[in-house]
Amino acid sequence: MKVYVFKDHTALSRYAAERVIEQVKQKPTSNLGLATGSTPMELYSMLVAATQAGEVSFKAVRTYNLDEYLGLGADHHQSYAYFMQKNLFDGIDILPENTHVPVGVDDISQAAVSYEALLRDSGGIDLQILGLGANGHIGFNEPGPELSNQTFKVTLDEVTRIDNARFFNHLDEVPREAITMGVGSIMRAEKILLMASGSGKADAIYKTVAGPITTQVPASLLQLHRDITVLLDEAAAAQLDPQFYTRR
Ligand code: GLP
Repeated sequence: MKVYVFKDHTALSRYAAERVIEQVKQKPTSNLGLATGSTPMELYSMLVAATQAGEVSFKAVRTYNLDEYLGLGADHHQSYAYFMQKNLFDGIDILPENTHVPVGVDDISQAAVSYEALLRDSGGIDLQILGLGANGHIGFNEPGPELSNQTFKVTLDEVTRIDNARFFNHLDEVPREAITMGVGSIMRAEKILLMASGSGKADAIYKTVAGPITTQVPASLLQLHRDITVLLDEAAAAQLDPQFYTRR
């Protein structure tokens, strides 16, 4: 793992944006793996600005999102499909048919199998963007006795539901289940950028980077990935011994 610590969230978002732009310039037909949540929002607005400035084009890019809540249609304002549309896809020149978000409605088991087949047939993800749950989850792969090798239906942790309740009117509205790429699906990406900011992520980052590899901290499996860069602000890096990171 390469671990870089930046002075703030904007600086780490800028580094991530540069990496995405460089990837797309080098390979215009790149497959990008994308995440939702508050962490990548600034990265996405930088990609929108770069597209509008003519610095990059996403015309031949295909995107694959990590996860989606069960039961929220694409027009629900808290669905991840809606989030991606608003925060990224509407502002860049990507073709709508080249954007993929798992479908959290209908027959989820079938949807999971189809999504994993779609990932396989895509030729693989070139660059995967990841956020981190406060409990160490990636996508919606929650801590537990085992992790999934492929896209599957998951029951959300109470910690995750409480964390994400800030986006809903009430905790009761937060879905209890979701569809997510498995840790195996994520690990098959060529390159990974894991982004984390703020003191609420410091414990999860300590366990991800410096702790034992365990299914109880799904992100710790990323220690085994051959090309992962972890991007942190000062607060998220607070519990890490400086030997684990480089300041940027
Ligand atoms: C959500 C998503 C994850 C995301 C994480 C962190 O539950 N399923 O993909 O990385 O939580 O969210 P945030 O960036 O808002 O802290």
